[in-house]
Amino acid sequence: MNTTHQAPGTSPDVSDVPDASAADHSSADVLGTTAARARGAELEKLVLRSPERFRVLTGDRPTGRLHLGHYFGTLHNRVRLQDLGAELFVIIADYQVLTDRDVADHLTAYVDELILDYLAIGVDPARSTIFTHSAVPALNQLLLPFLSLVSVAELNRNPTVKDEIARSRQSSVSGLMLTYPVHQAADILFCKADLVPVGQDQLPHLELTRTIARRFNDRYGAGTTLFPQPEALLSPAPLLLGTDGTKMSKSRGNALTLAADADETARLIKGATTDSERHITYDPVSRPEVASLLLLAALCQDRTPQQVADDIGSSGAAALKRTVTEAVNEYLAPIRARRTQYAQDRAYLRRTLREGNERAAAVADATLAEVRAAMHSSY
Ligand code: TRP
Repeated sequence: MNTTHQAPGTSPDVSDVPDASAADHSSADVLGTTAARARGAELEKLVLRSPERFRVLTGDRPTGRLHLGHYFGTLHNRVRLQDLGAELFVIIADYQVLTDRDVADHLTAYVDELILDYLAIGVDPARSTIFTHSAVPALNQLLLPFLSLVSVAELNRNPTVKDEIARSRQSSVSGLMLTYPVHQAADILFCKADLVPVGQDQLPHLELTRTIARRFNDRYGAGTTLFPQPEALLSPAPLLLGTDGTKMSKSRGNALTLAADADETARLIKGATTDSERHITYDPVSRPEVASLLLLAALCQDRTPQQVADDIGSSGAAALKRTVTEAVNEYLAPIRARRTQYAQDRAYLRRTLREGNERAAAVADATLAEVRAAMHSSY
């Protein structure tokens, strides 16, 4: 188990965390990425051996269209796990939109955009469950007992939340901002998911989820394990930068979205930041913008970034951008074609979500019944 941050008041499971202390002492690894990556390789083997034994849950906030950073970070992996035969739940975290803003604007439209992105990349509603957490009452009810299992100090030191507070434009920090990671634990534990494919920034939330599962079992389980401890599955792909050289993000206007058309993609890549050196080399440390473009082409073409760089050689940044544009547009063409098709059938989108919500609600009801029984509050 990749327990990198041992919660206070719980006994450390030392045999399972060979490299946790190394991860903890590295200031560059506050999120526990090193341990999660090491564990990821082992999990990968287990999943390949018996995919049907795994329940996978992950999701997104409905704040806009998904981009290639999301795609190579986690979306691609979700579909791969589904196609291997794991059971997949995809959550549209609509309440979570309110963590750093007063109102969730365009919510219905953004929910539709997410469903379109999911369907376009190959999430299959016949096998997988797409749902919004606000529509699953029993999931939300888990928040109350879960809140009782964490301390205010623990909530205050979540590095991802701290970062979001620092970047938020709100004048004060809402109770939801501080507690949404506990709600996220309910997102994951309501269906007793074992695997959560996420980006690095979500690792603290996963750790808290594991802590809550463990504490619930210890406090109420009477020797049984009501909640399994879910594990993070990090993407092997490094972080993609946006066209301005900073992290690709929905809100920064630097993202290559799945939904963009080929011309818009070409325009965005043409305007991407590079450097003045003509000879193209893959050097993520001293040439991060060029390296990220090479990586993007490589991911789309299933090659290594070095191979892409060698092909371009001294043809310069313009040739690099042409290569990247072609690679991205070619890779996304079938995804975009499917997206356009689904966008014409809004009734199908609504039905997909309604059925997903019903399925998720049935699972959540069953879990809540167990929780109530364990807490002696089923009357
Ligand atoms: N916090 C996630 C994000 O910002 C979205 C999310 C909500 C999520 N609930 C989840 C991710 C449960 C994984 C599992 O992207």
